[in-house]
Amino acid sequence: MKVPLLDLQAQYATIREKVRKAVDDVFESQRFILGSQVSALEKEIAEFCGVPYAVGVASGTDALLLSLKALGVGQGDSVVTVPFTFFATAGAIVNLGALPLFVDIEPAGFEMDPEKLSDFFLGECTFSLSTHKIVHKSSKTTVKAILPVHLYGQCADMDEILAVARRYNLPVVEDACQAIGAAYGNKKAGAIGDLGCFSFFPSKNLGGAGDGGMVVTSDAQLAERVRLLRTHGAQATYFHSIVGFNSRLDELQAAVLRAKLPHLQAWSEARSENASRYGKDFQEAGLLSHATPPAILPNRSHIFHQYVIRCKMRDELHEFLKAADIGTAIYYPVSLHEQECFRFLNYGASDLPQSHTASKEVLALPIYPELTDAQRQYVVNSIAEFYRGK
Ligand SMILES: Cc1ncc(COP(=O)(O)O)c(C=O)c1O
Repeated sequence: MKVPLLDLQAQYATIREKVRKAVDDVFESQRFILGSQVSALEKEIAEFCGVPYAVGVASGTDALLLSLKALGVGQGDSVVTVPFTFFATAGAIVNLGALPLFVDIEPAGFEMDPEKLSDFFLGECTFSLSTHKIVHKSSKTTVKAILPVHLYGQCADMDEILAVARRYNLPVVEDACQAIGAAYGNKKAGAIGDLGCFSFFPSKNLGGAGDGGMVVTSDAQLAERVRLLRTHGAQATYFHSIVGFNSRLDELQAAVLRAKLPHLQAWSEARSENASRYGKDFQEAGLLSHATPPAILPNRSHIFHQYVIRCKMRDELHEFLKAADIGTAIYYPVSLHEQECFRFLNYGASDLPQSHTASKEVLALPIYPELTDAQRQYVVNSIAEFYRGK
């Protein structure tokens, strides 16, 4: 048997006609940039998230970049985030000339640890009474924002993070690129902080036919600023009030995403169903002493963008499953504080121990909605075979 990590062919087979019609309609209109598809998708995503504003941009990376820029992040500033995430989270900060300052994750859900966040401000920052700025003592940068990541499809502990943010009067940008539709209490990922960022990379729960992203917010001014930033800062063509970027979601992507959006809820529920079946299978196979299934943290619903176990002998298991034709992946093998390009930040591996340990132990298993019972059982049986006698 063969089990890919993700099977987009299987998904496409169920929506082929709708997607082709949507693409055809865009070609017939010959309107490819900022037309009715993008504005309709913006309305639909805003409604889906329960916010008044959504702005389509070229990627999740740009959603982060434009959100931070809209908050005024630039040279001499810093943004507090986690190192256990996809590169873009910190890359966006550095590309604005600012510094990423890392706080560690909590081990159960791999999300930003609010206690560590609080300790960071108490121990490493000062409040300037003259400028009313939060200054990071050792880098002498001004802390401009907090950027938690809703990793794998589950929200970080936003109440606690927002409580810290309010204490220091700092805005919160949610990296919700992996978490569209995930809930925290009665709010949706992306709609909890000041700005929320989504990615429509093809492998995401809502994936386009290429790159795409969106920023959501309840703040009219921030929405307007992101809107300006995506078109080189021009309100009217050729009249530029600020310097921005070329970062628009295009009509073809928006049309494909609109064809897929009505299925998103059911797809995420199917992933969640697969996750609970995996959990039972792991228990029945006696695997819990070798591999820990993901935890669903209190007050949250998980959309299982990834189903990530924490396991012993991770690299050997990864190879064993590859040989058994099972696709798995390591998200992420090197925590950002240990990346070569961030050596200048001067972090040691042990400065962020939970992130370091997670990078050695995590393994993502196939969880896509079309995964069959037989495929899932083959994955679990293969893992059990690997650990037999170990
Ligand atoms: C956590 C996280 N942040 C940012 C991004 C960047 O999104 P994109 O690939 O659309 O630029 C991704 C997705 O790849 C992601 O998973």
